[in-house]
Amino acid sequence: MREIFKKLIKLTKQANLGGGKERTQAQYKKGKLTARERINILLDDSSFQEIGMLVKSKNVEVGSIDNSIFGDGVVTGHGTINGNAVMVYSQDFTVYGGSLGEEHANKICKVMDMAIKIGIPIIGLNDSGGARIQEGVSSLGGYAEVFQRNVLASGVIPQISAILGPCAGGAVYSPAITDFIFMSNNSSYMFVTGPEVVKTVTHEEVTSEYLGGATTHAKKSGVADFVFDNEIAVLQQIRRLVDFLPSSNQSEMKIKKNDTSFNTEIPSLDNLIPKDKNKPYDMKDLISKLADNEDFFEVQKDYAPNIIIGFIRVDGFSIGVVGNQPMHLAGCLDINSSRKAARFVRFCDCFNIPILTLVDVPGFLPGTDQEFNGIIKHGAKLLFAYAEATVPKVTVITRKAYGGAYDVMASKHLRGDLNYAWPTSEIAVMGAEGAAKIIFKKIKQEKLKEKIIDYERNFSNPYNAASRGYIDEVILPSNTRLKIANGFKLLRKKKLENPYKKHDNIPL
Ligand code: HXC
Repeated sequence: MREIFKKLIKLTKQANLGGGKERTQAQYKKGKLTARERINILLDDSSFQEIGMLVKSKNVEVGSIDNSIFGDGVVTGHGTINGNAVMVYSQDFTVYGGSLGEEHANKICKVMDMAIKIGIPIIGLNDSGGARIQEGVSSLGGYAEVFQRNVLASGVIPQISAILGPCAGGAVYSPAITDFIFMSNNSSYMFVTGPEVVKTVTHEEVTSEYLGGATTHAKKSGVADFVFDNEIAVLQQIRRLVDFLPSSNQSEMKIKKNDTSFNTEIPSLDNLIPKDKNKPYDMKDLISKLADNEDFFEVQKDYAPNIIIGFIRVDGFSIGVVGNQPMHLAGCLDINSSRKAARFVRFCDCFNIPILTLVDVPGFLPGTDQEFNGIIKHGAKLLFAYAEATVPKVTVITRKAYGGAYDVMASKHLRGDLNYAWPTSEIAVMGAEGAAKIIFKKIKQEKLKEKIIDYERNFSNPYNAASRGYIDEVILPSNTRLKIANGFKLLRKKKLENPYKKHDNIPL
């Protein structure tokens, strides 16, 4: 080998060491992988091309910054996931705890800028002690530069964050702006202020895990979209998510052909709805049956489970699904479920992913808790999201569609393209019993039963809505896959634009 090349080999070796063997061992002891190992699991074999390996901190004169370390605590570059290009950055905790200094931020900004220019997803693997203390305001500036790009990229390219270690202070806000956050159980946490600060200010004693661990963000806050048992599972599931998404808001949908024929009936669906109207059933059973290969990738599984969101493929194309879940709160819409579904509907609309809505909703959840916390504005978010969405929208009402919730759940009036109802549907202002009690307030108890039956016969069915064209067709449950697949196929070339505006003003 020529002498002049040897220097490059030496520098590359040195850069690959990150913060050194000892710190790498410490990382392993915590059950964590190194930044480069994570990238290798995330991307197709040998596809990673590194950018900026030899970058160094400019701020060596400040504090304890070591001039011999390359990369400045973040590994950046590009590669492919199942053949599709992505940009990636992976923070290296072995270098100053993965903290973000000026050059570290510049490297992240560079790959973000490239991702936006090229129109491909950006994936950030976060493992960082936050703003690099030694670099002071330069780190704060660096964060803001990243945030600015996150905002500009929003709705243009998919942005995915994995939290694979600490993520504290301002570091949480870049992931928060991205489209999806993955966390790994027991090794990742996110909070604006850590347990020590919490103790000082509010006198609460909490562990990092309780304050901002994966379970907390999956179940309580809804900050995490996906939680998996370990880092490897997280990285593999990011690959699965990327497969469902287009590369940008301008690119064609990926097609994943499979053996599931959509032109067949699914007889078991005719028995999905229990004879007793008040009995729950699992809406996920329906979603899986409608999906190619019964493959449903659920988002925010443990948060606001009264609504289900996620991705399926129908005839090879990605579809975003929103479904009320009768197994939780009878499928009512409340604050959290409205926010959860609204964000998902907007994500799908940004990236031209058609939306399938499965409706079984007895209305908005009543009560002071909901009203005091602003269900009016939060519920309006979902209404707004559906109303502004221009992607193909196919809706199937399986059972209840009462009141305002009927309107909200991708009704014909909110530009639903194809609205189907099963014969078991009850499309009405409210349930028969409640309605009869209000209308026939003064009537005797024994007569009330008759009135309830009358109301059910006259109003709690799909035929009134169908006679007005609010429902395009009343269909047998067993034909649902066939109907929706043909519907989405028809709608592939749909064109619809909203009036010009700078941007809308969704009730935040
Ligand atoms: C520089 C840092 C650092 C930081 C950690 N390190 N955080 N260096 N700036 N912010 C270094 C440590 O000095 C140590 O270096 C190495 O990373 C590993 O840290 P440990 O503490 O040994 O690891 P661990 O016990 O796992 O604890 C990790 C930690 C803790 C929980 C992240 O280090 C920590 O609390 N750090 C500070 C977190 C923080 O308050 N950040 C600022 C947030 S404010 P050596 O050389 O020993 O390996 C913020 C504002 C941004 O981010 C605002 C933007 C809007």
